[in-house]
Parts: sequence; structure tokens; C-alpha cells
Amino acid sequence: MKLISGTANEPLARSIADVLDVPLTQVDIERFRDQEIFAKINENVRGEDIFLIQPTSAPANDHLMELLILIDALVRASAKRITAVVPYYGYARQDRKTGGRTPISAKLVANLISKAGAHRVLTADLHAGQIQGFFDIPTDNLFGQPVFVDDIKDRFSKKDREKLLFVSPDTGGVVRTRSIAKQFDADIAIVDKRRPKAGESEVMNIIGDVAGRTCILYDDIIDSGGTLCNAAKALKDHGANSVSAYITHGVLSDPAVERINKSELTELVITDSIAQPDKVKTCERIREVSIATLMGEAIRRIANDESVSKLFG
Ligand code: R5P
Repeated sequence: MKLISGTANEPLARSIADVLDVPLTQVDIERFRDQEIFAKINENVRGEDIFLIQPTSAPANDHLMELLILIDALVRASAKRITAVVPYYGYARQDRKTGGRTPISAKLVANLISKAGAHRVLTADLHAGQIQGFFDIPTDNLFGQPVFVDDIKDRFSKKDREKLLFVSPDTGGVVRTRSIAKQFDADIAIVDKRRPKAGESEVMNIIGDVAGRTCILYDDIIDSGGTLCNAAKALKDHGANSVSAYITHGVLSDPAVERINKSELTELVITDSIAQPDKVKTCERIREVSIATLMGEAIRRIANDESVSKLFG
């Protein structure tokens, strides 16, 4: 097995390499003056089982193109099998036509990754599970849930856990929220969110009784923070004791950090699926937990032809 990292999330790649006790294969990634990307793998990879780690986070198009170029370099270097390890799959939110004459970009990106020459994909908390069907190659979709469950058991007192209420910030996240709530034998509530236009969100209603409860908002993505901060305010207005959030992918586009700092959220917990700038790392209300062990174990199982679903019980 060989592990290769693009430039999108080198800290996570190094942590995965530590978990597996496998060094990262050296690559050079350079830019031409016009910003074209050039990649060179600095070791022989002929006949190797390659795991190429590159989330397609911001800048999404650059990181995607870098992923495709690295796959092409590996194909031409005669790698035996290439697994695109994409901890955060950008473009996932464009998973259906939202109107006439609009694209399904999540499918286009899946086509690009397959056509470039990847044999498998390993990702985490896809925005919608059915995106796996956009690939005609095997796709493993890991869940951040076990990492979050451990963290919640660690951080919340037994007394707080008795009042736990998991909240889906929109109707699209209900299945995900029900699944984590089941781990604690807890109830769920649902925020009825509307998007008047892209990038804006409004809370219409809260379905469920949140008064006096320890609320945990649970979602796959926080982008501009509008969904989460509006939901936190609505929950507080309806009498919630406290509101925290566990979100797998910290996209955190501006002005998310400013919004979180001014919000009713006690804490936002994200994973390291996306590398964060200092502004996020130094924000006292945001904490990161690592999915490196989970991803490393999934990689080990794929390399050894063992079950990946066993990781989730
Ligand atoms: C949408 O369905 C996703 O699950 C997130 O709720 C959404 O992407 C968050 O976006 P924002 O933080 O910009 O409101």
C-alpha cells in the first residue's frame, strides 16, 4: 500500500499515515505561471495499491483539478489500483436538478473522478447517501457518527445526557439525526428551514418540544453558518437549556466564524475532513475532532479486502 496526499489536507493525510504506520509517498505539486497544476510522483508506484488523499474543499475547483491530475499521473505510472480518498466531497449539494436548465454537478464530479482513472472512492458523510450511485466504481461512505458519539459521552455529564435532544437543522437531515439519537436513546426535533435564495436560510417552525433540553444540532455541512446559527437562536427562543452542534464538514465560508462567535451556540464540533485556517483554529467556540483513525482503519480494511461496514457495528 502507498499513501499519497494532495495539498488540500496534508495534516489529515499525515495523521492517517501515522495511524497506518505507512510513510506518505513524496510528490511535487507545482503551478505554471498561468496557475495550471503540474504533479510529479517521486517514487516508483508500478503495481502498487494507492490511496490518494484529497478532499475537494475550498478552493474546490483547484483541489478537484489537482485530484484528477494526480490520478492521471498514477494511471500513467502503472499503479495497480487507485482509491480516491475524498474525506469531504465538494459539489455534493448539487445532487439533483433544482430547476429547469440546471446541472447535477455531483454526478459530473463523480464522472470526472472515474474517467480520470480512480478504481474506488472512499469518502465520509456524503451530503446524500445516494451520491454513491453516481459512481460506477465501488464507493465507501464512512460516518463521522462514532467519533461524535465518543466525544458527546466524554463532554456531556450524565445529568445533561438525560436531557439530550438531537436536532436536525432541516428536514433533509432527519435520518442522520435519528441515527445518532438512537445511540443515546434520545428524542429528536426538526427545524423547518426554508431557503429564500442560495446562501440564505430562515427558520419557519420547530417540530418537537425543546424547552429545558440539552440540544445538539447534527448535520453534515456547515458552510456560511446561517442554517446553524438561525437554528440555535430559534431553539433558545423556544426555551432550550443549551445548544451545541456536531457537524462533520467545516466548510466555514465567510462570515461563518463571525456568525458563530455572535451566536447562541455553546460550541461547534467539526472533524478534520477539511484543513482549517488559523481563524477557525483560534476560534474558542469551535473544536475539531479527528477522523484519521476511522479513515486509516477503513483504508487498512480496503487494502486487505476486509469489511468496511463492520466499522459501524
Ligand atoms: C444543507 O442541506 C446542508 O446539510 C447544510 O445544512 C448547509 O449546507 C449549511 O449551509 P449554511 O451553513 O451556509 O447555512
